[in-house]
Amino acid sequence: MFTITTHSAQETMRCGELFSKTLKNNDIVLFEGSLGGGKTTFIKGILKGFGYKKRVLSPTFTLAREYHIKKKAIYHLDLYRLTTSDIFGSMLEDYFYPREAITLIEWGDRAESIINKFIKVEFIFLSENKRKLIFSMCPSKTSGIVSLRKCLSRKL
Ligand SMILES: Nc1ncnc2c1ncn2[C@@H]1O[C@H](COP(=O)(O)OP(=O)(O)OP(=O)(O)O)[C@@H](O)[C@H]1O
Ligand SMILES: [Mg+2]
Repeated sequence: MFTITTHSAQETMRCGELFSKTLKNNDIVLFEGSLGGGKTTFIKGILKGFGYKKRVLSPTFTLAREYHIKKKAIYHLDLYRLTTSDIFGSMLEDYFYPREAITLIEWGDRAESIINKFIKVEFIFLSENKRKLIFSMCPSKTSGIVSLRKCLSRKL
């Protein structure tokens, strides 16, 4: 586990852009923490990192959005309005086994008990423009977290 403090939305986006370089097919990333913490902002950075140039909208009402960028598939989910029992056994579960794709889940705490392997980014609201980002992996994987930290500490 390691943490990074960002001091603006731009910095959080840049962090997401760098983070995208560490992602590979079948990865699932859970985004947790405060309302307005910066989850969508970070995901905008990830999509930018994959070369997506259009506007990114939060799937709060549609629950899921799919992006297909240069043969890469990225699924963006927002589970804010759901409970774990709403999700369990629903079609959304298909996104938890992303074959040839990457799944990014806002309010991932709702699905944490159903998914057995994930990267987690937790957002803590420190002040108006300051956020603490806590990165971890489940199951805990030291080599993975070390390379993630190296990648993110570059040019932030
Ligand atoms: N350091 C920062 N990192 C991220 N966002 C920041 C930061 N400082 C200020 N902000 C502002 O905080 C807001 C974060 O909104 P965002 O939609 O990314 O949060 P969220 O966690 O997805 O919210 P929700 O819980 O509603 O899904 C934006 O308005 C952004 O400009
Ligand atoms: Mg959001």
